[in-house]
Amino acid sequence: MTWEPTLKSPADLVDLRGRVVCISGAASGIGKAQVELFLDAGASVVALDIDDTGLQRLYASLPDHAERLMCKTVDLTVPEQVDQAVAAGKQAFGVIDTLCNTAGYLDGYARSLDTAESLWDRVFEINVKAMYRLTNALLPDMLERRSGVIVNMASIAGFQAGGGGAAYTSSKHAVIGFTRQLSFDYGRSGIRVNAICPGMIETAMTEDVLADPDSKLVKTLKRVPAGRLGRPEDIACVALFLCGPGADFIHGAAMVVDGGLMVK
Ligand SMILES: NC(=O)c1ccc[n+]([C@@H]2O[C@H](COP(=O)([O-])OP(=O)(O)OC[C@H]3O[C@@H](n4cnc5c(N)ncnc54)[C@H](O)[C@@H]3O)[C@@H](O)[C@H]2O)c1
Repeated sequence: MTWEPTLKSPADLVDLRGRVVCISGAASGIGKAQVELFLDAGASVVALDIDDTGLQRLYASLPDHAERLMCKTVDLTVPEQVDQAVAAGKQAFGVIDTLCNTAGYLDGYARSLDTAESLWDRVFEINVKAMYRLTNALLPDMLERRSGVIVNMASIAGFQAGGGGAAYTSSKHAVIGFTRQLSFDYGRSGIRVNAICPGMIETAMTEDVLADPDSKLVKTLKRVPAGRLGRPEDIACVALFLCGPGADFIHGAAMVVDGGLMVK
């Protein structure tokens, strides 16, 4: 049996020149690291976030990439804003062929009885519905071209309890389900969809819980096989690989990137 090699050289693994990547949650943490890495890999980036100041800071910090970076302030829970941002991205770069659904919202580790319906709804609006909304805004064009890559940010909370509260953990299980269903429905139409499940990563989201270096949680986390907490770049690297040609045979995966936290 003969086939065309996916990679002409190992350097192709990290070469995203010519690609246009939409990244949500781009102003902070993992999303910000994704923006920086994807730009370095040669892609053009449409960076979305509700945090206007954070986006301005991001744009100002990347003067060498200004021509390939568009920042749009958008509340992903508002459908019209999502449509406008996608339209602006397409106008700027022609097509959007890759999507990193990274924006997310933590629930303060609230147990079910401590979770008001408004908190439950907010967590699901941002972590799940906004992901479905942005995906559906980009999928029709991807399907027309029979080519597209989507990486959804789940969590180890998509597999186990304790990585968040009742709403967060449920929402991340939903993200993995959504990822698998997208893969099932559209994989054979040229769309590759995967999820990343980070462990504990040092970002604004985890700032409070990691604030006390003497806390039992932080000590436990330092005993993970990797011997350290995760950094946003640890996750951005995996997203870059999943979006590139080296991951051509990876469909519907929920890839755990947790420094070994879940081995026990
Ligand atoms: N940090 C961790 O330990 C960890 C672990 C597992 C999974 N995750 C997931 O990784 C993703 C990124 O998290 P992070 O740690 O970088 O957090 P972060 O708080 O640094 O970044 C989240 C970003 O999402 C944006 N956002 C929130 N609501 C929004 C909305 N309505 N519209 C537009 N943007 C909105 C925020 O403004 C923020 O910039 C999330 O989905 C999170 O659940 C994080």
